[in-house]
Amino acid sequence: MFRSVARSAAGKSLLRRGYATAVPERKVAVLGAAGGIGQPLALLMKLNPLVSQLALYDIANTPGVAADVSHINSRSEVAGYVGEEQLGKALEGCDVVIIPAGVPRKPGMTRDDLFNINAGIVKGLCSAIAKYCPNALVNMISNPVNSTVPIAAEVFKKAGTYDERKLFGVTTLDVVRAKTFYAGKAKVNVADVNVPVVGGHAGITILPLFSQATPKANLPEEDIKALTKRTQDGGTEVVEAKAGKGSATLSMAYAGAIFADACLKGLNGVPDVVECSFVQSTVTELPFFASKVRLGKNGVEEVLGLGPLSEYEKEGLESLKPELKSSIEKGIKFANQN
Ligand code: NAD
Ligand code: LMR
Repeated sequence: MFRSVARSAAGKSLLRRGYATAVPERKVAVLGAAGGIGQPLALLMKLNPLVSQLALYDIANTPGVAADVSHINSRSEVAGYVGEEQLGKALEGCDVVIIPAGVPRKPGMTRDDLFNINAGIVKGLCSAIAKYCPNALVNMISNPVNSTVPIAAEVFKKAGTYDERKLFGVTTLDVVRAKTFYAGKAKVNVADVNVPVVGGHAGITILPLFSQATPKANLPEEDIKALTKRTQDGGTEVVEAKAGKGSATLSMAYAGAIFADACLKGLNGVPDVVECSFVQSTVTELPFFASKVRLGKNGVEEVLGLGPLSEYEKEGLESLKPELKSSIEKGIKFANQN
C-alpha cells in the first residue's frame, strides 16, 4: 500500500532512487494509542513512508506498544508517551494528530451514550493540541463524532487557534463499509468502487449516496434501501458481534490510516486528494456536515457539494438534519459550559 523510503544513518529521509522529489519530514501522533483502534492504527502509521516521526500517547501501556512497533524496519522513528505530563512532548511539532481515545460502545448503547465520558477526554486532549501543536491537522475518531468535532472546534476557538480547515471528523469507515457492501450486492470488483457518504457518523445521520456509486449497477430500490440500512447500522453490527468486547477496531484502524494518509498527501502537495469527512461546512444549513473534501497543504482546500441526489437520498437528508443538529448543539453547549 505504501512505498518505502531510504534513510540515512541519522534517520533523515533521503531521495529513494527513482523518486523525483524528497519526502518531507512529518510527525504524526496517535492519542489513545494503546487501545483497540490505537494499536493497529499505530502499526499502519508505522508502515506509512510519509511519516518520519510517530508519537504514541495514552494514559497507560504505550511504552510496550511503542517498543513493539518501533522494531518494524520502516521509515519513522517511534516514541511512546504515557500520562498527561508527557502529552506536550508527544504533541510538539506534530503535523497530524489522530484521536481514537475514549470508551467504545457495548450492545444496546448508542454513540451518544458515550458522550458523558468521551466529551471530557476530547476536550482535554484538544486543549493540549491548542497549546502544543496548534497548526496540526486533527483527525477525530472518538465518538460521538457528531458532537466531539464541535467540542474540538469550540476548544480551539476559545484558545484562539481554530482553523476550520484543520479539523476533521473521521467518517472513512462509513465509506469503507459502503464500498464493501455495494461491491458485494452489485457483484463488481470492490477495488474499483467509489461511494460518497455524507451527513454525520451515527445511525440515520450516515447517508451513503448509492445513486452516485461507481461502477454503476442500477440496483433495484429495495437493494439500495437494504444497503443504506446496513451501512448506517455497520457499527452496531460489529458491536453486537463483539458482544460486550468493544466496537470496530481493525476496520477502523484501516479507515483511520487511509484518512491520515490522505491528510499527509494533501500536506505534501499531492493534487486531487479527495475523501469524505465531517467538517465545518456550508453544504447545508448545519455548521458541520460530512461530504467530499479536497485536501491540500493547509488541510481542507475545498468542501465539495452533494451532487445530484435521488428522491430516497433527499428524504434521508431531510430526516437526518434534526438529529445531527441536536448532536452538534450538544457538543457546542458542553464545550462552553465546562
Ligand atoms: P478502547 O477502549 O479499546 O481504547 C481507547 C483508548 O483510549 C484506551 O487505550 C484508553 O486508555 C485511551 N484513553 C482514555 N482516556 C484517554 C486520554 N485522556 N488520553 C489518551 N488516551 C486515553 O476503545 P477503541 O475501540 O479503540 O475506541 C476508541 C473510540 O473510537 C471510541 O470512542 C469509539 O466509539 C470510537 N470509534 C470511532 C469510529 C469512527 O468511525 N469514527 C469507529 C470505531 C470506534
Ligand atoms: C463504528 O461505526 O464502528 C464506530 O462508530 C463504533 C460504533 O460505536 O459503532
